[in-house]
Amino acid sequence: IYSEDLKRPCRLYTSSSNYDHENVHLWRDNLRHPCHPLEDCIKIWPQKPTRYREIVATYSIEAKKLGLRILELLSEGLGLGSGFFGDKLSESLLLSVNHYPPCPDPSLTLGVSRHCDPNLLTILHQGDVYGLQVFKDGEWIGVEPLHNAFVVNIGHQLQIISNNKLKSAEHRAVTNSRVARTTVAFFINPSDDCVIEPEKSLIDTDESPAYKPFQFKEFLLNYSSLMGNPEKCLEPFELHA
Ligand code: OGA
Ligand code: NI
Repeated sequence: IYSEDLKRPCRLYTSSSNYDHENVHLWRDNLRHPCHPLEDCIKIWPQKPTRYREIVATYSIEAKKLGLRILELLSEGLGLGSGFFGDKLSESLLLSVNHYPPCPDPSLTLGVSRHCDPNLLTILHQGDVYGLQVFKDGEWIGVEPLHNAFVVNIGHQLQIISNNKLKSAEHRAVTNSRVARTTVAFFINPSDDCVIEPEKSLIDTDESPAYKPFQFKEFLLNYSSLMGNPEKCLEPFELHA
């Protein structure tokens, strides 16, 4: 499954998708693959451990239900109609498993460097080992793991669609020298050709749209070329009043 070919839909790799050109390598291995449509994708998932496909299929169905329910509540909270985030806006589902082995010197690198998730919404299971931090009011704050609880991240697309009413959360993962940490991120994404733009009804009369329309795949292309740099990755899509 290990591959450095970015086009492989199911692959395991070390550090980031940019191993050869990054200044500092990340202390992690990552396994990722799509989860929709399930009947097609399941055939490319790992066959070992033996029950991987069965268990991850069940997990992905439940994570999708939870995510869509949260999106439905967000939609209601924003005053949008029921089903607003259904269909194309939440069509693509991606599972991303991070494994962070114990790191001899956590001051030298990170598990995942600072970023906001490029998607709509993330359902993160961070297990019972600490490592996630969120950037708030100029400092990094630890997100202590709660047993059997998920962390829900607002992604860049939700910020754009809501015309900055919802803010994507900047976060990173640190390592520790004692125990390995494994986390499971379930990313809910728009489909590649889905056009993303601020929803008209969310632009107040004294406001103008903060972003121009673009296809989600354009966003991803730019995001990966900037390695998720949170200051820069919205820039090409911003409109200035
Ligand atoms: C991610 C992420 C954090 C973690 O995969 O996008 O932010 O704690 N992971 O593993
Ligand atoms: Ni993230």
